[in-house]
Amino acid sequence: MSERRRILTGDRPTGRMHLGHYVGSLRNRVRLQDEYECFFIIADLHMLTTKNSPQDISAVADNARGMVLDYLSVGIDPAKSTIFLQSAVHETYELALLFGNLVTVPRLARLPSIKEMARAALIDEDTIPFGLLGYPVLQAADILLPRAHLVPVGKDNQSHVEITREIARRFNNLYGDVFPEPADLVEGDTLPGTDGQAKMSKSIGNAIFLSDDPATVRKKVFSMYTDPNRIRSDIPGTVEGNPVFTYLDHFDPNVAAVAELKTRYRAGRVGDVEVKERLATVLQDFLAPIRERAEYYAGQSGLVDEVIYQGTLRMREVGAETLRQVEKAMGITGSFNRIARKAEDRAKRLAAQGAG
Ligand code: TRP
Repeated sequence: MSERRRILTGDRPTGRMHLGHYVGSLRNRVRLQDEYECFFIIADLHMLTTKNSPQDISAVADNARGMVLDYLSVGIDPAKSTIFLQSAVHETYELALLFGNLVTVPRLARLPSIKEMARAALIDEDTIPFGLLGYPVLQAADILLPRAHLVPVGKDNQSHVEITREIARRFNNLYGDVFPEPADLVEGDTLPGTDGQAKMSKSIGNAIFLSDDPATVRKKVFSMYTDPNRIRSDIPGTVEGNPVFTYLDHFDPNVAAVAELKTRYRAGRVGDVEVKERLATVLQDFLAPIRERAEYYAGQSGLVDEVIYQGTLRMREVGAETLRQVEKAMGITGSFNRIARKAEDRAKRLAAQGAG
């Protein structure tokens, strides 16, 4: 088990996951967990870089639980993989601080992704907080804490994995080999929204969620955007860029039937209703086992929390070992560490007395 190479990836806990997440990242993660030892991070500290009001923070717990329930329901298996809460792994904070000395401010300030996140959060370029500038440094700490070899990410996060490699290289050159230089694995396709826009997104309201009930899925499918020029079913239709067919391509296991349907659509020999009826059925079939697993995990009170708790313990164990290596390599294990250890022992004793 410890022979397997490691993966770290994950998401900020912003809410429930949809078919776009499935196609873009989740299905890939499910596949990868047999070949790699996977660590999936609930990146709640990264949330704080753009959303840190008390209201934002109070929404995190529910969002994180919903997100993990979605992970589990698509087949991420806690017996194979580690799902953990970033903010509960204190080694992350320590590593991020140490890494802050291995990258320059201009290097970070030039990144388009930082500017993009600032823009999306309505933050002026000249009032970007230190924390947002340090987003990739914190991400490097996430990735290198389990000494991951591979990081599946979207295009928007590729530059952060590049920074991670630079930090790993700089650390290894300066202090000795501790970290692998992780490779990025660019994640899959983006799925268009039900409205035909290029990307399915919760904030645009064009998403079909993994947790949508059958009636909602059906309603969303029947309100989907199709070929706008096709005002009657005997008019030849366009399949390319038509989201109904894009979804069929992704989710219908019967490729021949989809091909036949496309032929008829192009020839003006099938109505939108029949195509949507097929898609609705296909999606219900696809979602059925996902719903079943969701019911299993949600049905036992405390189970999702227990999965996160166990994963967090595992991550802390691995992280503590990494930090031991880091401190040893950097030479911060001398007299100062003895002082630190004494202070920690003392604090623990006092806490125990207080509790007793
Ligand atoms: N930055 C990722 C996002 O856009 C979340 C994340 C945090 C992450 N740490 C990571 C992804 C480490 C991959 C590896 O939501």
